[in-house]
Amino acid sequence: MSVPKYKIPEMIDLPDRQWPSKSITKSPIWCSVDMRDGNQALPDPMDPDQKLEYFKMLCDVGFKHIEIGFPSASQDEFDFFRRLIENDLIPDDVFIMGLTQSRPHLIERTMEAFRGCTRGIVHAYIAPSDLHMKQVFGMEREQLVATAVAATRQIRELADQMPESDIRYEFSPEEYTDTDPDFSLELCEAVFEAWGKGTPEKPVIMNLPATVERRPPNHYADMIEYFCRNFSQRDSILVSLHSHNDQGMAVAATELSLMAGADRVEGTLFGHGERTGNVDLVTCINNLYSRGIDTGIDFSDLAGVAETVERLTGMPIYYRQPYAGEYAFTAFSGSHQDAINKGMHKLGEAPERFGMGWKVPYLHVDPSDLGRRFERLIRINSQSGKGGIAWVLEQDYGIEIPKAMQPELGRYVQVYSESVGREIGSNEVHTVFQNEFVAPKGPYELVRYWPRPDENDPTFIHGEVKVMVNGEDKTVSADGNGPISAFVNAIKQVAEVDFKVHDYHEQSIGDGADAQAMAYVPLEVPGQGVFFGVGADSNIDQAAVRAIVAGLNRIAKK
Ligand code: KIV
Ligand code: ZN
Repeated sequence: MSVPKYKIPEMIDLPDRQWPSKSITKSPIWCSVDMRDGNQALPDPMDPDQKLEYFKMLCDVGFKHIEIGFPSASQDEFDFFRRLIENDLIPDDVFIMGLTQSRPHLIERTMEAFRGCTRGIVHAYIAPSDLHMKQVFGMEREQLVATAVAATRQIRELADQMPESDIRYEFSPEEYTDTDPDFSLELCEAVFEAWGKGTPEKPVIMNLPATVERRPPNHYADMIEYFCRNFSQRDSILVSLHSHNDQGMAVAATELSLMAGADRVEGTLFGHGERTGNVDLVTCINNLYSRGIDTGIDFSDLAGVAETVERLTGMPIYYRQPYAGEYAFTAFSGSHQDAINKGMHKLGEAPERFGMGWKVPYLHVDPSDLGRRFERLIRINSQSGKGGIAWVLEQDYGIEIPKAMQPELGRYVQVYSESVGREIGSNEVHTVFQNEFVAPKGPYELVRYWPRPDENDPTFIHGEVKVMVNGEDKTVSADGNGPISAFVNAIKQVAEVDFKVHDYHEQSIGDGADAQAMAYVPLEVPGQGVFFGVGADSNIDQAAVRAIVAGLNRIAKK
């Protein structure tokens, strides 16, 4: 028989699907399965102490449903449950969850692990897909339903013997997305009935996994909407999503399925999990956060969370991982840097222009909400532009480069970056700025400038300049109607070029006794163009004259 190796998965029949025109308007319940699905897929699973640290971190950021393991799988797993419960390490509002296969001796052991907990979710699973039933279990549908029902009854019986604990039930028809949806419904209805105590206050969790991502995200959403519409006691269950990322679309599948009516999402931080992983909860949660939804999870120190996860799992986070990757908010290219720089300066206008507090080119969320520092946003290499370079100097050194000077500085930084052939640090940008504009080598060295107000008219200045020109001491004097014009009139007597001072820009850096004045002075040389010089001094006039001397040295160099 000739059949294709692969085929297009069939969609379920749902022509009146509603989810495409819905939006996610509130947060689902988030369930971390890091310590079970995530941990079981690590090359070096976490040891009990590492799991404890991970558990505390999950509680600290706000998870209320946490699958902490598979207690019947090993002594360590079992002991971990006991350690948390016996040492009172579980916050009162947190449900710990444990997975079990639907087999009597494993259920017994699992329930033993939960003894004495305040809140627990016992999670049983079985795969009702034809693939599993035929190829793995060799079971018929009736047998499979009977197994799930028996497991559920056993769990209920044992849970009833623990009245001091609030034990909830979660059931997963594994490979839900590869299973006939009507059979999944039939199975889940039978399980719901066997549990017998699902109510809106204490709903049963029906977790519908895309155990392997075999379909596009819209198929998952259809299947979730179908389940939500057809389950008999919809208000007494929580419909839960559990997607894996085999086709790289788990986040999309999760979002569409939330639109389709799901209430809860299981996943892991940064998507650890079997094969290509579970859905990444950091991305899901921050996506909703970026749309103004209160997620209940605090990622204001996402870098700290990322560091903990990397250290405990031994798995590095990729540079471009959404939200947490080192480059998640970094712009290297000049046009992006320039736009970010402008957008950040005009952020105050966003509320009126766009009706929202944050609207910045190339940054869909404010990185500082996630504890990311702005100075890391713009990184400089040979592709970088003037805006990014100006941004780096402003952020790291408080230096406000005037717009007209930025292209020239940009060219020097680019030449430098090309010459070293790598990304450069803001200290190197600062050195280029200093060497080229503040202290360029040249024939002139200012020794002293002494401006004195006229005895009769204090606005009229007599200026005396001591300057070395090509190593020779010179003293020149002139008058002017301000300290700068007196200086210009004096220095012109020894300068080798004629020049005109244009309007210049001043700023002060720091405050109090340590404040520094910076002056950015453009000198125009007829027929040659405009040359900026920059001066720094505790006195603003002295800063301006230093800038003029720096400008003259740059002209001489040209
Ligand atoms: O991926 C899956 O189906 C699972 C189940 C055990 C819920 O991890
Ligand atoms: Zn899974």
